[in-house]
Order: sequence, then C-alpha cells, then structure tokens
Amino acid sequence: PRPAGTGAAEYRPLVVAHRGASEDVAEHTLGAYRRAIDDGADALECDVRLTRDGHLVCVHDRRVERTSNGRGVVSEFALDELSTLDFGSWHPGLPDSADRLVDPDPDPERQSVLTFAELLALVVDAPRPLRLLVETKHPTRYAGLVERALVTELRRFGLHDPPDPDTAPVTVMSFSLLAVRRVAELAPRLPTVLLLNGIPVWLRTGTLPAGVRIAGPGVAAVTDQPHFVERVHDTGRKVYVWTVNDPADLDLVTSLRVDGIITDRPGYVLRRFGR
Ligand code: G3P
Ligand code: CA
Repeated sequence: PRPAGTGAAEYRPLVVAHRGASEDVAEHTLGAYRRAIDDGADALECDVRLTRDGHLVCVHDRRVERTSNGRGVVSEFALDELSTLDFGSWHPGLPDSADRLVDPDPDPERQSVLTFAELLALVVDAPRPLRLLVETKHPTRYAGLVERALVTELRRFGLHDPPDPDTAPVTVMSFSLLAVRRVAELAPRLPTVLLLNGIPVWLRTGTLPAGVRIAGPGVAAVTDQPHFVERVHDTGRKVYVWTVNDPADLDLVTSLRVDGIITDRPGYVLRRFGR
C-alpha cells in the first residue's frame, strides 16, 4: 500500500539510504552501499571521521566496538590499522547489532572499513546519477580539520564546486552550525544541511541561518513541530528528515511533502511510493 497522501504523482522525494541499506547489510560497508544502489536509492548517506594519519573513513560512532571486531577510538587508529578490522560481521550480542544485521557480507574485501575516497569513487562510477549526503562528525573537537579534509577530498574528485547547488552530487550535513558554516566558507556552492534533534525556538519561523540551504530535522522533531516543514518551504528552502523507517513516520513525512527521506530501508520506502 502507498503511504497516506501519496496521491499526487508529482511528489517524488529524494530517497536517501542511511549508512547504506543498513537494515539489511552492516552499515557503512561497501556491501551496504551496493545494496542501496541495487535497491534504487536516489542518494547515499554516510558519516565521516578522521583517522590518526588524516584519512576520512565512513564510521558513525566515535569508537569501533559496536560495528567491528576491534576496540578503541577511530581517531587513534592509522588507516592501515583500522583496515585490519572486520566491519562487515558484527559480534552477536552487542547492543543494536544482533537483531539488526540480517545479511552479513561474506566477501572479506567488503567487510573492511570504507574510506570516504572509496565511497566517492562508488558514487562517481555508479551506473546512474547518484547523490551523496555526507555528515561530518566530531566537528568542534578538531577545529575544522574534518571539514577541510572533506573539501580537499571533494576537490580531488572535482565535486567541491558544483555549478548548481540544487543538482550537486554531494551535500554536506552537520548537527554543528559552526561546521556547516566552515563548509560554506570553504566551498560556497556545496549544498549544506543543518541537522536538528529538535526544532529550537529561534528556528520555529522556518528561516534557516546564513550558509544553510536545507533543514535536517529528526522525524521525532517533525512529529513534535509538523508546521516547521511548511515554514521552511515558505522561505524557499528544503527539508530532509531522518531516520524514517516506520510506516507511520513515512505517512507523516509524506503528508508534509518533505523533500528528502533518509532511511535505513530504501527498498521499502521506494516500494511504498510505487518506485
Ligand atoms: O542523516 C542524519 C542522521 O544520520 C543523523 O543522525 O546519528 O544517524 O548520524 P545519525
Ligand atoms: Ca549520519
């Protein structure tokens, strides 16, 4: 069945695979992103962190325990050390892992930590136009190192200065307004998303701060403040909502006509839209 309110055929939100098709395959692995592409996702989402030797890697948590067989803090590993860990077959019994990982990737190459450069290569070489939403983690601790490394890597791929932000292949997101502004200074035409756990009072008019093109509230914040979406739309800006996995949440964001739906289940969401 289609979600409530999908009658208008022209409503076609960007369906974004959160950490890859992470309901089916271990998050942030090459296998998870390949599955998302096979499922038909419009875009991929990833989190990036810096290793000790300055490489951007696709890892959500500060530490590696939840998603690998190693122990320690990502930023204390060199890339070649991190590459010895298995990120594709999580230990059973760890919180979140045993019940969520239904399809561990059997290919050892695809279990390795994914570098941001490898993910960019996947996006650039994809058989159809594909977008990437990249979120910088630990922005304040390293005083802009992550954002600078990110823009440098995008420049290497010729992706840092898109002619039109509305069709740019790469969008940068952060919960930190400081980080979003740093990116906007380094690469003014890269679209940026300010992620929001809740809608702060100062944002309830829907007017986004300078340098921010898209609002990125969590679905709980939208449930709490549904008028926020319309207010942002009234200012000519977009709203991408995370992490929309449940049918009721999908119904809500569909009825509000959000512009992007970030989900662990891209195949499911696309099927609900008849795509
Ligand atoms: O896409 C935004 C969403 O990923 C933010 O939360 O914790 O999953 O990075 P988190
Ligand atoms: Ca994220």
